[in-house]
Amino acid sequence: MNTVTLTSALKEKLLNKTATLGVIGLGYVGLPLAVEKAKAGYKTIGFDVQESKVKMVNEGKNYIGDVVNEDLESLVGSGHLLATTDFSKVGQADCVCICVPTPLDAYQQPDISYVKASAESIVPYMHRDMLIVLESTTYPGTTEELLKPILEESGLKCGEDFFLAYSPERVDPGNLTFKTKNTPKVVGGITSKCTDVAAALYESILEAPIHRVSSPAVAEMEKILENIYRNINIGLINELAILSNKMGINLWEVVDAAKTKPYGFQAFYPGPGLGGHCIPLDPYYLSWKAREYGFHTSMIESSMMVNDRMPEYCVERASKILNKQKKAMNGSRILVLGVAYKKDIDDYRESAALRVIDELEKEGAEVAFFDPFIPEYNEHGKVKKGEAQLTVELIEGADLVMITADHTMVDYSFVQQHAKAIFDTKNAMKDVTNRENIELL
Ligand SMILES: NC(=O)c1ccc[n+]([C@@H]2O[C@H](COP(=O)([O-])OP(=O)(O)OC[C@H]3O[C@@H](n4cnc5c(N)ncnc54)[C@H](O)[C@@H]3O)[C@@H](O)[C@H]2O)c1
Repeated sequence: MNTVTLTSALKEKLLNKTATLGVIGLGYVGLPLAVEKAKAGYKTIGFDVQESKVKMVNEGKNYIGDVVNEDLESLVGSGHLLATTDFSKVGQADCVCICVPTPLDAYQQPDISYVKASAESIVPYMHRDMLIVLESTTYPGTTEELLKPILEESGLKCGEDFFLAYSPERVDPGNLTFKTKNTPKVVGGITSKCTDVAAALYESILEAPIHRVSSPAVAEMEKILENIYRNINIGLINELAILSNKMGINLWEVVDAAKTKPYGFQAFYPGPGLGGHCIPLDPYYLSWKAREYGFHTSMIESSMMVNDRMPEYCVERASKILNKQKKAMNGSRILVLGVAYKKDIDDYRESAALRVIDELEKEGAEVAFFDPFIPEYNEHGKVKKGEAQLTVELIEGADLVMITADHTMVDYSFVQQHAKAIFDTKNAMKDVTNRENIELL
């Protein structure tokens, strides 16, 4: 079979939805993607190394906020979606998307081991005319330099016997407007045929434009650019928040005023530090790769210096607020509101609130937390239980309430009425008129 027929054969299967699709890694990115594929009419197999997730999916039990419970239930019920830890089933898939974690190691260097491990688990089951797409965020070069050689150990040749592309995942957990289904997708294949097949896959699933680029490296760099852009702008606004506080200027009011400009300005807001699986980590993937070229990503370093110091800065400010009440941080009772890394989600990975709590506890404060989405969290094996309810007693019992996530469902007027003092690092209290006990970051 020549390449042209191979491409057409797979495209035909995509066109008439007879292809079987695989998703490796059933987390925040992979599960919504698997659901969309199944909803588009494909038989979809989800792979994960965690038995518990596989079991939940197969029981139709949802564990990701952006997935609709009934969708998962009915897709599993109809046999369109199933999950497994058995990688030999990769052999049944025509297309496989890899959505595994890309964290940093203890030295802030890329930990690409999950991507490597998933590629290695595909190799024994690869077959001709198969499409593999990496969706995990990573440094430019990963698909071509790392993934391609591993996959070619199967004896199949990339671009001829199988197709390989990179397509960054842009899902924004909790976003009510843009979901996996309607967010434009960027696709870059090793060859133009690889791009073509990968674009055909996403065109058949999504209701969003597919933007083709000339190589996986362009697509990889594009994703990193998106996140560096956010990281650097957040660094800038955090630095200005520190300065504005010294100058007695309300930076939130400044940003609201700047936002009236209809072009050339995008609003970013300060906070207690960066959180989540992407913005604090991804720039370091590029900084690491840049060193191979003797290049220093100074803008990334500068913004990280500001962002990484924000939790400590917020604790210093909290100390000053307590000081005004003639109280020392040591022995004070502090109620932290919101430990998710952003509003209205249940994800606390890399959340700045956890670093704030650590810093407060190091200073001797007694810290309780309440988060309507997170009843408890586990940080490096240390479990901290949250308060079950936001009661008058809980609020009145705290010397300071510190808001570190601006969840919509919290009644901030109620908090204001009962708190001795509030340090609002997210401007969650913006609609509360009585501001006598509120201090803003
Ligand atoms: N969460 C987001 O908002 C978001 C947004 C855009 C991009 N991304 C990127 O997408 C990728 C995945 O992120 P996520 O948030 O979905 O991670 P996650 O931790 O929620 O899910 C990853 C899943 O992969 C599984 N896994 C790990 N190793 C595996 C292996 N060898 N084989 C099969 N499964 C394996 C894990 O058990 C887990 O269920 C990361 O590169 C991340 O940077 C995440």
